[in-house]
Amino acid sequence: MNTHKQKVDLLNKKTEEALLGGGKERIESQHKKGKLTARERVELLLDKGSFQELGMFVTHRSNLFGLDSQKILGDGVITGYGTIEGRLVYVFSQDFTIFGGSLAEAHAQKITKIMDLAMKNGAPVIGLNDSGGARIQEGVVSLGGYADIFYRNTRASGVIPQISAIMGPCAGGAVYSPAITDFNIMVEKSSYMFVTGPNVVKTVTHEEVTSEELGGAHTHSTKSGVAHFTTNNDVEAISYIKKLLSYIPQNCEELPYDLAYVSSDEIRPELNKIIPEESTQPYDIKDVICNTIDKESFFEVHKDFAENIVVGFARLAGKSIGIVANQPAYFAGVLDIHSSVKAARFVRFCDSFNIPLLVFEDVPGFLPGTDQEWNAIITNGAKLLYAFSEATVPRITVITRKAYGGAYDVMNSKHIGADLNFAWPTAEIAVMGAKGATEIIFKKEITESKTPELTLKQKENEYNEMFANPYRAASYGYIDEVIMPELTREKLIKGFKMLENKVDNLPKKKHGNIPL
Ligand code: HXC
Repeated sequence: MNTHKQKVDLLNKKTEEALLGGGKERIESQHKKGKLTARERVELLLDKGSFQELGMFVTHRSNLFGLDSQKILGDGVITGYGTIEGRLVYVFSQDFTIFGGSLAEAHAQKITKIMDLAMKNGAPVIGLNDSGGARIQEGVVSLGGYADIFYRNTRASGVIPQISAIMGPCAGGAVYSPAITDFNIMVEKSSYMFVTGPNVVKTVTHEEVTSEELGGAHTHSTKSGVAHFTTNNDVEAISYIKKLLSYIPQNCEELPYDLAYVSSDEIRPELNKIIPEESTQPYDIKDVICNTIDKESFFEVHKDFAENIVVGFARLAGKSIGIVANQPAYFAGVLDIHSSVKAARFVRFCDSFNIPLLVFEDVPGFLPGTDQEWNAIITNGAKLLYAFSEATVPRITVITRKAYGGAYDVMNSKHIGADLNFAWPTAEIAVMGAKGATEIIFKKEITESKTPELTLKQKENEYNEMFANPYRAASYGYIDEVIMPELTREKLIKGFKMLENKVDNLPKKKHGNIPL
């Protein structure tokens, strides 16, 4: 019979063993790669002393391929709950020092346990991924474990925020959990994500590609859009998670947290100087955003992907908002497949979590071409249309310059449910630009004219007089007010305040069928 002291000693011994993960050597090797350990990451993420670990002594139950002699406490993942800035969050952190962070039955059960608790208690789940994927020795139970997580990711989508940081390998089916979560943060040089690695790629397609090229942070933040953020190291990745959380509520029933705000500095004369004299000249929409919102509050999402549209979180009079803005400084702000999908996903996130939407519009239309048509700009452009149309949060649009063609409709027009639509005096709201329009409607006059170029110019001027302004749209009530740019901030603060108690419900349905 063990004494109390022996029992306590056993607990201490087991705890010590668990805290050491895969051992000193592997911890050193993790550090040498510039990575923190799973435990160090959790410590850094959560408020000091707030972490409550669950399942520290869990081990696998397999006896295949010699696993019976390798039972390591915790089974390669640290799970539990704690607080960030005093707010409850659930966290799992894969431990690469134990079986390469690989996932099998017990490891997956630890993760699903905290996901279930998060759903019942309405708090975010944060996943710190660093894993060699399915634990090969355990076979199908590894696959089952993944599917158990994917299922919960999907059920939790839109109910609680889910954030993934990729801080090491993330290969094979393992990528699909982060893909379903709301945001992916990747660490430059030490993380990668792909469905099949470079060796398989070489065998099947004969392409020679490195892991970094195939699925590194740079690739996913610029080419595929899988990563919403890239960071230089683990510490920065963790700071991004905290910043992201500061804009979003605990769950879909709650509102985002307000920061204290004292009214001042609402008139912003800088905004009067941004739009160039020539309507074909570019300007940076981020100058408009940053001169409108609370100072230093813009947190851009998908910064390096589909740069013709800008999306991100900001604060206006202390309140969290989501911003979607065409970027005239990049491809003239045209809407294409990537920018439509990027913006649609962001709009849906904001709508899921009660974050009001602000749209800045300067868009010459959809990008023409076979590449776009054959890759389904129709279906993909419709995603943005659909996302705005179904959004029930307060929605305000400011047209700074061009609002042409179908893009006028798509970019949060009054017709698809925007609550307030403002235009600057420089707004041009028309079916298309003056040159293209006159060439079509005055084709006969121009070709029959002795001075076709002069006639074209005259007709262009006539068209501009008629349409290249906000007043026709305002006369129909499609624009609520034409405002001086410097008043934008004040109008938006008052507008969002007026919309604070907005109630708008979608018709009863099982779920919509967004054009995927
Ligand atoms: C079991 C694994 C493992 C895995 C790594 N390890 N991956 N053990 N199952 N999937 C172990 C290694 O044996 C090693 O153990 C330790 O973790 C560290 O691995 P190293 O190879 O030494 O590290 P490194 O050189 O950094 O390479 C990391 C790696 C590589 C690139 C991740 O280990 C690798 O390629 N692993 C296999 C990846 C893979 O094919 N996974 C399955 C994907 S398919 P020791 O004891 O030596 O330290 C999949 C299907 C899911 O995930 C489907 C869901 C729908």
